[in-house]
Parts: sequence; C-alpha cells; structure tokens
Amino acid sequence: GSHMAPLKDVYKNDFLIGNAISAEDLEGTRLELLKMHHDVVTAGNAMKPDALQPTKGNFTFTAADAMIDKVLAEGMKMHGHVLVWHQQSPAWLNTKKDDNNNTVPLGRDEALDNLRTHIQTVMKHFGNKVISWDVVNEAMNDNPSNPADYKASLRQTPWYQAIGSDYVEQAFLAAREVLDENPSWNIKLYYNDYNEDNQNKATAIYNMVKDINDRYAAAHNGKLLIDGVGMQGHYNINTNPDNVKLSLEKFISLGVEVSVSELDVTAGNNYTLPENLAVGQAYLYAQLFKLYKEHADHIARVTFWGMDDNTSWRAENNPLLFDKNLQAKPAYYGVIDPAEQ
Ligand code: XIL
Repeated sequence: GSHMAPLKDVYKNDFLIGNAISAEDLEGTRLELLKMHHDVVTAGNAMKPDALQPTKGNFTFTAADAMIDKVLAEGMKMHGHVLVWHQQSPAWLNTKKDDNNNTVPLGRDEALDNLRTHIQTVMKHFGNKVISWDVVNEAMNDNPSNPADYKASLRQTPWYQAIGSDYVEQAFLAAREVLDENPSWNIKLYYNDYNEDNQNKATAIYNMVKDINDRYAAAHNGKLLIDGVGMQGHYNINTNPDNVKLSLEKFISLGVEVSVSELDVTAGNNYTLPENLAVGQAYLYAQLFKLYKEHADHIARVTFWGMDDNTSWRAENNPLLFDKNLQAKPAYYGVIDPAEQ
C-alpha cells in the first residue's frame, strides 16, 4: 500500500534504486509501484541485440523507443542493457554457415565490423537518454581455475571465437568513440557479470578491467575506458555476504564505480516460500543493503531484477521483495530497515 516507505527515498543519499521492466510494467498498478519505489529502470529484454538488430542492418527500435520515452516521461532514468553478450544475440553477428552448412565463426574483420556497427548505431540512436550502458555482459567463465590469466579465463563465446580475446576491449573502444564524439552526453560504460561473489571469477574480472584500463589510461592522460563494474547479484539464500564484500571492495579498488545491476535472492521452490525461509531471505537482503550502504560512495545504483515473485525470471524460487499480489514480503522490510533484522 501507499503508506509504505519508497525504497528510493530510503536510499536517496546513497545510490539510485532500479528495477528491470517489460512493457506491462509501464501501465496501471504496476507503473504506480514502479514509480513509487524506483529512480531508474533497465529493459529486461527490449534492448538486447536480438531485439534491436535481428538481421544485419535491420535495426528495430520501435518497442525500445516507446519504452524509454515512457520511462523518461514518468520521471525515471534508463540504464542501457546490453550491447555485447553471447545470449539473446542473433547468430549472424559473429557466425556464418560454411560449405557443409556447419556454423563457424566469422573472420575477425567482419565480426569486428558487426560489433562496432551494433554498438555505435545503438548508442547513437538512444543518445543521452540513458545514464549508462552494459557494454559487455558475462565474458568471464565461472570459477576459473587460474584467474591470474584472465585471457585464459574468458568464456569461449562466439564473439571470442570470431575476434579473439581482445573483443572485450574492442567493444569498449567502440563505445568510447561514440562518447568522445558527443562530449555533452553523460554516460558511464559498464562491464557486467554474475556469480561475482566467487573469488576466482571476481579476480579474473578485476585483472581484465585493470589491464584494459591501465593501458588505456597510459595513452589517454589517465582516463578510464571502463567506467564501472556491474555486479548482477543473482544470489540465493546461502550466498555468503562476506564473499560479496570481498568482491565489491576488489572492484572499488580499481577506481571504477560499481552498480548492483540485477539483484534477486532465491529462497524456497515450487512457487512456495515457507516462513523461516522468508525470514532468512529478508536477513540476507538486509546484510547486503548494510554492505551497500557502507560503500555507497562508490555505488551508483542498486537495481532489482523484477518487482514481484510472479513475473520474475526465477519465479519458482520467490526471489523478490513483493509477492504475486504485489504485497511487501519480509524481504522488503529487510531492505528498508537493514539494522532491524
Ligand atoms: C533474463 C530476462 O529476465 C528473461 O526474461 C530472459 O528470458 C532471459 O534473460 N543476466 C542478464 C539478464 O544479464 O539479461 C538476464 O535477463 C538474466 C541474467
């Protein structure tokens, strides 16, 4: 109900509060709940590569334009998600069929051209309507065995196979060119990944961002190429917040900003959340927000990945602050008053 504390007011001196949306979240009761609690939104799917360039050169911006214009008209900001990823991306971007009809990687030059064209066309189209972009998503393997060698820790994605291990850097260079050509835009460029509480994965990500940023800074008067690291935060009730803290502090030590980009905490199964697990989930949310608040100077935004358990991408496991009737769960109270938990 409307007597509840808006999340964005509770954290107004700390960081922006965000959520992931689809078109139906911009109507009626859902829009009211969205606006009441959030400063900023991310398109859950509408700005992914398969949504924006299904076939080469055929940019399909209509749905995303309607979404972003409505979001801004309703007084919220927009975060851009996502330019380069191995999922929800059309095959033509980085693969072709060979003479035997097998799918094989494109050559480096053609793939690089597709990468740059996609990034630059999309960024120029939306322009300054977004506050930040996830330029590259999920490039790192899970729990890499030798995180000191970040190149060997990279996921062997179609982009990697076509371009090589510098595809992440190439993507940020293409994005940075657009910002350099438009100095009035104020947009942060993010690297975004999940399972970032795993220390091996966090170390590999740290080493990658450090290498890319150090070399860019040396040639550009200390300027950052990668402005921020997004910690997706797809956690579960057994996630250890001490590991989240170690990773968060490691990323902050890079001198970049951090955002929590896709937060949800699974608990229970079969669309059922017993009371004891609802309390445990609230406690983990509270511990996470205590941690985020302590590091608020370095955190730009905390975005939940969905408003309610019914429409969540992990609906079976009840991960969000509001239940299927949009009623606040214990998790909501854990977030608004973490000291009380
Ligand atoms: C998810 C969406 O929420 C789903 O609707 C879709 O079916 C699959 O993708 N990491 C990301 C997000 O970066 O884009 C994903 O979103 C969740 C995992």
